[in-house]
Amino acid sequence: MAKLAEPNTIKTWPARAEKPYGESMTLTAQEACKINREVAGLAPIIPVLVVHDAGIARDLAEALVAGGLPALEVTMRTPAALDVIREMSQVAGGVVGAGTLITPADVKAAKAAGAKFGVSPGATDSLIKACEDEELPLLAGAVTATEAMRMLEKGYDLLKFFPAEASGGAPALKALGAPLPQITFCPTGGVSLANAMDYLGLPNVICAGGSWVAPADLVNAKDWAGIEALAHEASRLGRE
Ligand code: 3PG
Repeated sequence: MAKLAEPNTIKTWPARAEKPYGESMTLTAQEACKINREVAGLAPIIPVLVVHDAGIARDLAEALVAGGLPALEVTMRTPAALDVIREMSQVAGGVVGAGTLITPADVKAAKAAGAKFGVSPGATDSLIKACEDEELPLLAGAVTATEAMRMLEKGYDLLKFFPAEASGGAPALKALGAPLPQITFCPTGGVSLANAMDYLGLPNVICAGGSWVAPADLVNAKDWAGIEALAHEASRLGRE
């Protein structure tokens, strides 16, 4: 695993320099990956959140950030998702992104709601273009060598490995790293406290995504202390 910054120590967010007046204001692949590398370096785990009630969004985000997980992925899978992004973006110390981006309309909506980065289970040309046009740094999903090489050809060398466990898990990701060491991954999908270190120990992994730090039973019970404890446990992975 790459060396991690301590949570909340990165002061230069966002990492992108302003472009001179007159230059096209799209985000290049290199700029997107630079920003996402900074986000991914904040903690070993990015919580993947499916939130149905924007009314609990701030409490949930505060618990996760307090536990040491500042980068939060809010999936666009619920009617409340955009409001959740808006609410969570108010939480000090957090960096809120939108997950499950499928269409250019998703990208526009997520950006307008305040998302600082975008995550997709895959990648299409129209999605990539929308993220570049909207200046939303994209963490695109890839699982085969060809998918990863296609993204690399476009300049993206930081990718999500999804669905991680179902696609062969850490051994498959390790095997991809032999011919493609220039690509760094954030594995997501089936990652848990029990197997996270299998991934985080690989040289081509910067962090992992997982939903286990915000389980539905604790969220429904508004057990913020319990979620903070899970986040703290996850934030120490690879550090002790
Ligand atoms: C997702 O998009 O649902 C993520 O892959 C989360 O997967 P998990 O619930 O297995 O952590």
